[in-house]
Amino acid sequence: MDNDPAVCDSTRQDTDTRPTSRLPGYFRLTISERVETLVAQGRLTEEDAELLASEFAGLPLTTADNMIENVIGVYGLPIGLGLNFVINDRDTIVPMVVEEPSIVAAVSHTARLVRDAGGFRVDADPPIMIGQVQILDCPDPEVARETLLAHRDAILDLANSLQPNMVARGGGAKEIEARVLGTNGASAVTMVVLHLLVDTCDAMGANLINTMAEGVAPLVERLTGGRVHLRILSNLADQRLVRARCDIPVALLNWKGFPGSEVARGIAEASLFAEVDPYRAATHNKGVMNGIDAVAIASGNDWRAIEAGAHAYCCRSGRYRPMSTWHLDEEEGVLRGRLEIPIQVGTVGGPIRLHPTLKVLYKVFGIDDASELARIMGAVGLAQNLAALKALATEGIQSGHMALHARTVAATAGAEGDEIERVAQQLIAEGDIKVQRARAILASRNL
Ligand code: MEV
Repeated sequence: MDNDPAVCDSTRQDTDTRPTSRLPGYFRLTISERVETLVAQGRLTEEDAELLASEFAGLPLTTADNMIENVIGVYGLPIGLGLNFVINDRDTIVPMVVEEPSIVAAVSHTARLVRDAGGFRVDADPPIMIGQVQILDCPDPEVARETLLAHRDAILDLANSLQPNMVARGGGAKEIEARVLGTNGASAVTMVVLHLLVDTCDAMGANLINTMAEGVAPLVERLTGGRVHLRILSNLADQRLVRARCDIPVALLNWKGFPGSEVARGIAEASLFAEVDPYRAATHNKGVMNGIDAVAIASGNDWRAIEAGAHAYCCRSGRYRPMSTWHLDEEEGVLRGRLEIPIQVGTVGGPIRLHPTLKVLYKVFGIDDASELARIMGAVGLAQNLAALKALATEGIQSGHMALHARTVAATAGAEGDEIERVAQQLIAEGDIKVQRARAILASRNL
């Protein structure tokens, strides 16, 4: 390593006392050296290091057997660290669990760029989730809607009586909404939909919201004269938005012989493509979620919920749009990135209580609450998107992908240690990145 990562980054002037997330040469260390670096920084204990190295680090079978049904084993994925992040002036190391080779390296690269530009600014709304109650067969749907609104306090009191602990922590049901919705045509149906707006504090909140939605159903039926049908949270968590931004002077974007101004213009043009074309927006957003999902898994969160909410939010105008945009401010010479999506996450409950590795990863995150986790995800999504657009707008995505892919192919063919890099280099040089060819290289030891 070319510096001592255990000390705070002296190039930054802020009040954050966390150890630096800037660890040059980290990728060259062995796995145990990487873990020891975290111990030296005071993020982990020797006991945590031992756990990471143990064969039970993934998940003990007995614990797995209590998590879902019909368990036959556990499934491993690599944990990598997104480095270099500075988010709201805080140095942050981001654990990421993902199988796609280039994601961690790419996000660390762009986090470094943004770090040099002052870091990410991210804000998150309070953790308000929506519980839905569907009411059918109301004698008069409009009157039912008004009656529900008139009984707001009774509905909220009943909902909160079901979750006293959450209320004691300052959370609970805070507001209601009611809408009349309908279908047209021969078998037209009109329904009233009640929303419970619930502050879930540091929980993702699915279970507690569902309990509330089910619990208020008898009162809702009495008030409306209708029949309550579904009672379930909505994953369109549009009260719980995260907004991330970064402003990068174009000079910082000089890369592999491409002038920064050209890279910045290319990124802005790529962003425009996603803004006008849903086909491109889907892939653009996939790049954003590459990072966010990896953090969701590393923090024991429900990435399907986050995906569902984020994509639904992208359709709010009636057309599918990108989660992030990039604009080149020619006058100031600055590339401005903006991201806005709902992020529904928790830092308590669910697998977080059960999974031994998650406890260690939370120490690496060093987060205080679910809002901070959501803010980290916002920054990671924007950084991951920048990495993809920067590559696409310059040399194309394949050269970076192929370099990492070649290492996987070499390892699959049986290469070990230093051999992996040498076989990978030869595969790239020959432009034939196949397991069969890697085996042949290894067999001839023609390195
Ligand atoms: C690949 O996992 C993600 C990208 O396709 C994202 C993008 O095109 O913006 C590279």
